[in-house]
Amino acid sequence: MQLDPKFHVSLQHRVRFTRDAFHPDNSAFAAICDGEPNRRMIAFVDSGVHALHPDLGDQLANYLGARSRLGEVVPDLKLVEVVAGGEDAKNSIDVCEQVLAATDRCGIDRKSFVLAIGGGAVLDAVGFGAALAHRGVRLIRMPTTTLAMDDAAMGVKNGLNKFGKKNFVGTFSVPWAVVADERFLTTLSDGQFLCGFSEAVKIACLKDPALFDQIESDSKQIVQRDLAVSMPIIIRSARLHLDHIATGGDPFELQEARPLDFGHWAAHKLESMSGYEISHGDAVSIGIALDCEYAVGTKILARRDTDRVIACLRALGLPTWHPLLAQTDQLVRGLEEFREHLGGRFNITMLRSIGDSVELHQMDHKIVAASVRALAP
Ligand SMILES: NC(=O)c1ccc[n+]([C@@H]2O[C@H](COP(=O)([O-])OP(=O)(O)OC[C@H]3O[C@@H](n4cnc5c(N)ncnc54)[C@H](O)[C@@H]3O)[C@@H](O)[C@H]2O)c1
Ligand SMILES: [Zn+2]
Repeated sequence: MQLDPKFHVSLQHRVRFTRDAFHPDNSAFAAICDGEPNRRMIAFVDSGVHALHPDLGDQLANYLGARSRLGEVVPDLKLVEVVAGGEDAKNSIDVCEQVLAATDRCGIDRKSFVLAIGGGAVLDAVGFGAALAHRGVRLIRMPTTTLAMDDAAMGVKNGLNKFGKKNFVGTFSVPWAVVADERFLTTLSDGQFLCGFSEAVKIACLKDPALFDQIESDSKQIVQRDLAVSMPIIIRSARLHLDHIATGGDPFELQEARPLDFGHWAAHKLESMSGYEISHGDAVSIGIALDCEYAVGTKILARRDTDRVIACLRALGLPTWHPLLAQTDQLVRGLEEFREHLGGRFNITMLRSIGDSVELHQMDHKIVAASVRALAP
């Protein structure tokens, strides 16, 4: 007897970009979580966000009380918990345990909500806890960094770092919704604000030459943190990530190609080699520069295109070099770790031109080393 049924599950992403999400006149957030009564919510706020937005819990409670039926069912419960912000959130199981304990204590059922407010790391760590509690409660992500808005919050996965390896632990899990409030971007440091544009450059290089031109020509205003110029780029990048996940045919990464991870094999390795001192956004910028040099070294990409990409990253104030790159033997171990993480055949996405890419199934370590030397200051 052999039984091999195939079945499909229909999933939906809900993404909203807004400003002042908890203003009583703003209906976007309430519309996402209202519908049926007797649902509960617990929010987890990134400690870095909490420090600069200490009244967020009150704003959320007032908003839900005024606009949502949710507010009526949680008056005695602590609505907001602060969790470790930054990569620390992913380097231990603590945030996940905090989410599990709170979902238990607050009676969060599978139709109730866990709200994660923070950078990509907090979204990943809280999302992991939310995916485990009752085998998955509804997760609303509220990204508060550039990178979380233009990439991380759109993903359908979560993760923790373990055994010195980035995202070794995690699950695929589609969030209930994403509500991005651009007001959060105003409290980021310049470095945090800019590093998220590396993911916008990445997706533009892969899929949208016009977006690349736009980032290139708007780089000065982006560096000056002009949100009128920056937000359309952030939203376009988010949309391209979202479209790839929703319509690319492989949301749970069962196939070999992982184009959204262009530049990421070296990025992930550099992050772990630095003890997560290098931010993900900065590491991705270096990883993109390295792979573009590699593509020139293997005659896949024209020198002119690589120079443009590297100049664009630098114009955004992003790094294209780190002294750890010089530890090439250790760096190239990241290639095998990347293959293990993907499973199956070795597969690395490389640019063929700005807007077009190709999959490689092997990389020459000597050309990687030469590419490192080409980037050295
Ligand atoms: N799940 C996915 O699909 C996916 C995709 C891309 C990236 N990621 C992950 O996202 C993480 C990187 O996220 P990130 O770049 O947002 O960095 P981050 O989450 O590490 O946050 C950086 C710092 O900014 C602080 N912060 C957050 N919001 C703030 C605000 N509004 N004002 C002031 N400070 C604030 C945080 O406390 C932290 O110290 C990485 O772990 C990466 O692996 C996940
Ligand atoms: Zn990334």
